[in-house]
Amino acid sequence: MTTRTPAAAARFALPSYERPEGVNPPLGYPDYRSTALRAPRQPPLVVPQRLTEVTGPLLGEERVTAADADLTTQHAGEPIGERIIVTGRVLDSDGRAVPGTLVEIWQANAAGRYRHQTDQHPAPLDPNFTGAGRCLTDPQGRYRFVTVKPGAYPWQNHHNAWRPQHIHFSLFGRAFTQRLVTQMFFPSDPLFSQDPIFSSVPEAARERMIARLDLDRTEPEWALAYTWDIVLRGHGAAAFDAGEGA
Ligand SMILES: [Fe+2]
Repeated sequence: MTTRTPAAAARFALPSYERPEGVNPPLGYPDYRSTALRAPRQPPLVVPQRLTEVTGPLLGEERVTAADADLTTQHAGEPIGERIIVTGRVLDSDGRAVPGTLVEIWQANAAGRYRHQTDQHPAPLDPNFTGAGRCLTDPQGRYRFVTVKPGAYPWQNHHNAWRPQHIHFSLFGRAFTQRLVTQMFFPSDPLFSQDPIFSSVPEAARERMIARLDLDRTEPEWALAYTWDIVLRGHGAAAFDAGEGA
């Protein structure tokens, strides 16, 4: 696709591989031990951005239902734990809403246990909680989930290592190059200081990973709400997750 005329090229707003300084964690971070096994040892290859890369993903709306965004109603009963609402907006680097984008989350249950075969933490599984949800942002770029607050859990990265309470997020923007995988944390978690995943993000950008308690969106007698806006690129960009797990 290198034969595009200048006039045709001008109609495309090509996303770049911008990686602003001071936002994202290094791919290899010694205190986060497993990054040693997956951090690339060679400089990354630049993949040409053709039509596919700049016009996808196109998601079939019918595949995502409203029920997918409520993690408390996926089973016969309600899960144990503190019910919460997690909401916010997805924005691009210019502050514009990103509507119709897929937001996916996954998390531990209230006891700090994932429903996953590799999670052998001796905390109870909850038969009424799977821990995965998804939704599409509305025309204002808003997303909203109902879930339970995840518990902290040990993860053997170092002696007495515990993850702060967090929810994993994956987002697609306007193009495949705008996928963001990151984590949302809760305010004033006492475990931040000993968590190398949180600390791998440059200090100036860590606040962007922390939701705020939002009493305006809290539903009285039912659930507290946390608001967390996500910027896909640019100076306000959320920090991406260098690892896959934990
Ligand atoms: Fe996790």
